[in-house]
Amino acid sequence: DAVAKIKDAGKLVMLTNSQFAPYEYIGADGAVSGVDVDICQAIADELGVKLEVVDMDFDGLIAALSGGKGDLVAAGMTVDPERAESVDFSDTYADAKQLIVVNKEDPKVASADDLAGKTIGVQLGTTGDMYVSNPENVADATVKQYKGAPEAALDLKNGKLDAVVIDKLTAENIVASNDDLAIVDMPSTDEQYAIAVAKGNTGLTEVVNKVIKQLQDDGKIAEFTETHVAA
Ligand code: ARG
Repeated sequence: DAVAKIKDAGKLVMLTNSQFAPYEYIGADGAVSGVDVDICQAIADELGVKLEVVDMDFDGLIAALSGGKGDLVAAGMTVDPERAESVDFSDTYADAKQLIVVNKEDPKVASADDLAGKTIGVQLGTTGDMYVSNPENVADATVKQYKGAPEAALDLKNGKLDAVVIDKLTAENIVASNDDLAIVDMPSTDEQYAIAVAKGNTGLTEVVNKVIKQLQDDGKIAEFTETHVAA
């Protein structure tokens, strides 16, 4: 089974996309760091193997997992029924929602209703992308899809976008490092993050769930999150 295979290989391969602080970002040493890396390190420790992190585009993660390029996806990935058709999700380890980032001096959007007709930046293939690309949520939007949150933030600063829609902690991370940007709340977009494993890989899902529960009980996930929010 998959757990035996990981132990034989001596490594757990985590697939992620590093453009999503504080869950994953390139640290000062050039390596991928973040809440998800800390969680997967604990999973690797539990299995007695080392952790290898593979960084790729967010919208390619599920195909890479299904294609056997890694053992799990840890990428602040929101549990969603469509994704659950191709992967198995672990228990959830974080609550999230979408927020709107705007220019502080000249905000083109003051509420979710104002997104209609605007030019909006998102990260390709994310729940923020799905939300604003659905005309039932946002009418007549021009949606620009970026590979990473930082690139979208740059275009917002340069006036090429009216707003960026992205997960809460990443939105807050962007605003914390850009004085000229601000956050506008977006109601009713509650989401939960989980780790994805290949379909039917129940042995590994059980290990992941056990570690998530331990980390949660010990207050470790909150601790990892505080550390990387402050980084
Ligand atoms: N939570 C959102 C989603 O599941 C965004 C995740 C983006 N993660 C990343 N590592 N780039 O679609």
